Amino acid sequence: MNRDETSEAPSTGDSTAAPAAGVPAAGDERLVAAFADGEDQAVEAALRPKDLGEFIGQRKVREQLDLVLRAARARGSTADHVLLSGAPGLGKTTLAMIIAAEMAAPIRITSGPAIQHAGDLAAILSSLQEGEVLFLDEIHRMSRPAEEMLYMAMEDFRVDVIVGKGPGATAIPLELPPFTLVGATTRAGLLPPPLRDRFGFTAHMEFYEPPELEKVVHRSAGLLEVTTDEEGAAEIAGRSRGTPRIANRLLRRVRDYAQVKADGLVTRDTAARALAVYEVDERGLDRLDRGVLHALLKLFGGGPVGLSTLAVAVGEERDTVEEVAEPFLVREGLLARTPRGRVATPAAWAHLGLAPPRQSGSGAPGGAGQGGLFEA
Ligand SMILES: Nc1ncnc2c1ncn2[C@@H]1O[C@H](COP(=O)(O)OP(=O)(O)O)[C@@H](O)[C@H]1O
Ligand SMILES: [Mg+2]
Repeated sequence: MNRDETSEAPSTGDSTAAPAAGVPAAGDERLVAAFADGEDQAVEAALRPKDLGEFIGQRKVREQLDLVLRAARARGSTADHVLLSGAPGLGKTTLAMIIAAEMAAPIRITSGPAIQHAGDLAAILSSLQEGEVLFLDEIHRMSRPAEEMLYMAMEDFRVDVIVGKGPGATAIPLELPPFTLVGATTRAGLLPPPLRDRFGFTAHMEFYEPPELEKVVHRSAGLLEVTTDEEGAAEIAGRSRGTPRIANRLLRRVRDYAQVKADGLVTRDTAARALAVYEVDERGLDRLDRGVLHALLKLFGGGPVGLSTLAVAVGEERDTVEEVAEPFLVREGLLARTPRGRVATPAAWAHLGLAPPRQSGSGAPGGAGQGGLFEA
């Protein structure tokens, strides 16, 4: 439990290992990874909705944001600072760009890890134009001194630039033009309250429902000039883990398959066959996820089993199992983390098409009830 808050541990401290655009740790090359890879970054610009009307799903966030922006426009002022929180791939960067577009304002894009020193932030802030949107991605990874400078900038549109060192150092106040800060974070819980409190509006992005993802797939298919029927789009949506970025990526792989093997038409059958090639199953589990479940069920009778033991059985690092595979399995209700170890739910047995072991008295797993364990 003491490790729960540190699932991005490798990326705090020094930022040498982390590419500027994301926090891909282990498992970032998976087709179902939620972080953007190089190919995503190239394609995503073309797929991003340009205004709120085009943005699919997230109805509440859209409604609230629409009001915030309309009111600001009506007053002729800059919009309040906005915090976007949610899992990777749900549309935070897209929304930041939409905010700028809706306000007809320029946007400056940077990220927490790119701001090492307060001076870096001062340089950015002091070069903002009036009304500009400053998008600070991964805002929870900003350094402490920069964070403190940001408090004042957000509240009073002012920074103190420190000149000189030691006892002779002086703070020179610098007025800033009014601007809108849009912060994005995957870990709203890691933001210090004083920072959180300085946002006028916080949007919590939820995972998308299948019908919404179908719309995303249809929209992207149109832009990529892929012909997709209803069922084909539904098949891709169902495997996308509630995440538009994954939906778009799966669509591209299915498109490749359809072009080579199916005259370019994406039907349910083409989508299912294409994604079988890439080992993404009906529920969006990939090889790693299934490997973890399979070990948990077949080797440990569904658990409880300790994380380290499970990781060894799968042949993966402990962190990979815990941070890459488990979150989605937990979210899907296939695996539970208990004080005694990892436990499979009945849904996990059903998903892998296995029969759960018969409960034999108070027997420990792997005891007398083992009969049913190794069949199927
Ligand atoms: N609501 C949405 N409607 C349509 N496409 C979306 C939506 N949200 C995200 N996307 C698509 O998903 C991809 C990832 O979105 P992005 O804004 O980069 O996510 P985040 O910044 O939260 O990781 C983009 O290509 C974008 O086109
Ligand atoms: Mg982003």
